Amino acid sequence: KHKIILDTDPGIDDAVMISTALNEPNLDVALITTVAGNVTVDKTTKNALTLVDFFNKNVPVAAGASEPLLKKFEDAARIHGESGMAGYDFPAPTSRPLAKSAVQALRDTIMASEEPITLIPTGAYTNIALLLREYPEVKPKIKEIIAMGGTLGRGNMTSAAEFNVFTDPHAAAIVYNSGIPLVMVGLDVTLTGRITDETTAKVAKLGRAGKMLSAILGHDFDHDETGTAVHDLQTIFYLLHPEAFQTKDLWVDVVLSGPAIGETVADIRGAYHNGKTNVKVCVDIDTKAFNEWFLTEVSDNMQ
Ligand code: BDR
Ligand code: CA
Repeated sequence: KHKIILDTDPGIDDAVMISTALNEPNLDVALITTVAGNVTVDKTTKNALTLVDFFNKNVPVAAGASEPLLKKFEDAARIHGESGMAGYDFPAPTSRPLAKSAVQALRDTIMASEEPITLIPTGAYTNIALLLREYPEVKPKIKEIIAMGGTLGRGNMTSAAEFNVFTDPHAAAIVYNSGIPLVMVGLDVTLTGRITDETTAKVAKLGRAGKMLSAILGHDFDHDETGTAVHDLQTIFYLLHPEAFQTKDLWVDVVLSGPAIGETVADIRGAYHNGKTNVKVCVDIDTKAFNEWFLTEVSDNMQ
């Protein structure tokens, strides 16, 4: 069983990721922390609590950073709807967030754990950067960071930058240079490995959870004729099925100013950094396996 922490900004694709992680029997979700990103942190926190309640799980939620370290905050409500989880009429959550901050909760959970923990950030990396700066003693207790974000190819926020890294590039630079094993699940795989409309139609027939998931997926604007880019869900798929991905070990830097701010620049020649690498970059995914896996997760674990 993998012990994991989700650091997230739900967000439709975050919501699908959280739903899958909470119900997957091989995962132990120790904590969910929230961050400003797709919508404000008040809303991402409310959405995380809403999902914990929806599945009747006893997983603590801690509210995190309301803005990036240095850059001005810009949300993506135009993509995810004003609430961040448009498309389904959720009851208001009754669970409350922890009294302590996300950074404090991350520190306490990681230090108290007997086994190393995998961090799954699917929003801006602000909380993780603050954690590593304030409590570097957590580093050896983090097994791996599997982060949605970045791109070797084109961006989705600007032509250069992917949204999570663009939102807080300084935080991304801290995380990329932390020395902790890091997997980058970026647009190179999340825009190509889509959940097809056929899969979403099948999910819709799978009970209460399937109805909810297909309803919010129907509101995701990251959709084309090949399906919906459910970016954040691929982190969980990678954790459970790394064999479905092709990866490259590379040195990746983050652009911190100018028109390409938030761009993730990889040393693809390996020359400048003398072959030194800091990130395992996902470059290809078995899309068919991803769709089959997601369908099985909903049908077998969420009923
Ligand atoms: C990322 O940006 C957010 O809008 C999504 O939730 C995902 O984490 C994709 O670039
Ligand atoms: Ca996200």
